[in-house]
Amino acid sequence: MKKIILSMMGFVMVFASIAQVNIIPQPQSVEVGQGTYQLNANSKIFSADNSTQKSVVFLKDYLKKFYQLSVTTSPVQKGAAITLINKNKPNAIAGAYELAINESGIIVTGADAEGVFYGVQSLIQLLPINATKQLSVSFVKIKDEPRFAYRGMMLDVSRHFFPADYVKKFINFLALHKINNFHWHLTEDQGWRIEIKKYPLLTQVGAYRNGTIIGNHPGKGNDNERSGGFYTQEQIKDIVKYAQDRYITIIPEIEMPGHSSAAIAAYPKLSCFPEEATQLAKGVKFWNGSKEGKQVQQSWGVYEDVFVPSDYTFNFLQDVLDEVMQLFPSKYIHIGGDECPKASWKRSPFCQQLIKEKGLKDEHELQSYFIGRIEKYLNSKGRNIIGWDEILEGGLAPKATVMSWRGEQGGIEAAKQKHDVIMTPNSYVYFDHGQNNPEDSLIIGGYLPLDKVYSYNPMPAALTKEEQKYVLGAQANLWTEYVANTSKVEYMLFPRMTALSEVLWTSLENKNWDRFQKNMEFQNKRYDLWKVNYNKPKK
Ligand code: ACM
Repeated sequence: MKKIILSMMGFVMVFASIAQVNIIPQPQSVEVGQGTYQLNANSKIFSADNSTQKSVVFLKDYLKKFYQLSVTTSPVQKGAAITLINKNKPNAIAGAYELAINESGIIVTGADAEGVFYGVQSLIQLLPINATKQLSVSFVKIKDEPRFAYRGMMLDVSRHFFPADYVKKFINFLALHKINNFHWHLTEDQGWRIEIKKYPLLTQVGAYRNGTIIGNHPGKGNDNERSGGFYTQEQIKDIVKYAQDRYITIIPEIEMPGHSSAAIAAYPKLSCFPEEATQLAKGVKFWNGSKEGKQVQQSWGVYEDVFVPSDYTFNFLQDVLDEVMQLFPSKYIHIGGDECPKASWKRSPFCQQLIKEKGLKDEHELQSYFIGRIEKYLNSKGRNIIGWDEILEGGLAPKATVMSWRGEQGGIEAAKQKHDVIMTPNSYVYFDHGQNNPEDSLIIGGYLPLDKVYSYNPMPAALTKEEQKYVLGAQANLWTEYVANTSKVEYMLFPRMTALSEVLWTSLENKNWDRFQKNMEFQNKRYDLWKVNYNKPKK
């Protein structure tokens, strides 16, 4: 008996000394060695050059925040526990890296600076999931590169507003998941969230609503509370830099011509019918405050009062976009384009005259004219547009990238027309949909459990090899009609964003649901370490 107990203890000790190796997203190749390397307060980080500075800062901050471990940098490699090297390889896949850990220490080698950063993210996932100061990391040799160049996540801050500090926290989550594009949905019917100096009413009026429906649309009451908020240009600059420090590009979305009630409430001349009062969505009975004139909407859905395609509107939008471009250095500006009802344009004599004058067939072609004119303006400033797949209707603007949300069909069609595509089909990556059965909180509807997200392959078989080159990648969207606070943001995100990261990063051959599920046991504990709210596995 004693013998058995002793051998069991031996097993436990060996087991304890083999640190876990389960990195999500699963790397391209992982060789696990025998043994572990210890990081402690004496550990030093050496950078071969300054290009890896962002990675140094990120790693130091992470060790301090979650393990209360302060490590320092070293001017020389000799004796350093962690070495970061940027190989600056000219033709390598952006973000590729190698991570080698053995008795001599930890070496992260990136094909570029971004690659070093992703190597550091993988290293972070080898650290213990409890807040200890004795950090054992397993000996490994990892070679890794991303499957897609565009790995995105969208957050709607318009249906509900989240403070600037939380937006940074959200961006940090993206970094930890090797996601490199943050699509920031900044304008909507229910709130305009970006300070525009030339048009102060956009935020003075458009950033606040007098109430919000209670329960599912059309609502069983109204909370009768004024709510909202916006980001100042100073806050935005700070957030853009914060994202850049994490190799994340922020793509701002300024919605047009639909989903524009908040802008219209601020500047009614943007409407086809400036004198008409705001119409409530069908079935909405509960409203707080004045119903006169133009109002910021208090319920969800799609509204008929949209931008009039007049010179006033185009001048306004160009001015707004000028300020947007000053703040956001991204190649892309997202111009929305989805869910624009044509009813107002149909009954507007101005729009009907414009259709005739421009030789357009109908209101769909008027929408294409609208988007095309904005595209031309942005192209003239060296930027490209992204639009939701409705921008295909009435003809695609010449250089537009299409974000395919109503399934993949729009994306397939756009790729066949030789346009770039980002896949974001509502059936696989809409994180506002439910994830439990039965669902345990108020949601918009739908059912998107973890395994369904995991199963998604953004590369449609319907495309030829040549056409597939237009699929830049994919993104998940978190719409926030029913996501009223940051705790719920996290609940809707986790663990689905972890599955998304593997959809975006890991090669098809390396995806494996059984392994992923096992890794999730550790990942859930890591969520605990991060103190985030997540949808816990049901017993
Ligand atoms: C969308 O979900 N309306 C793009």
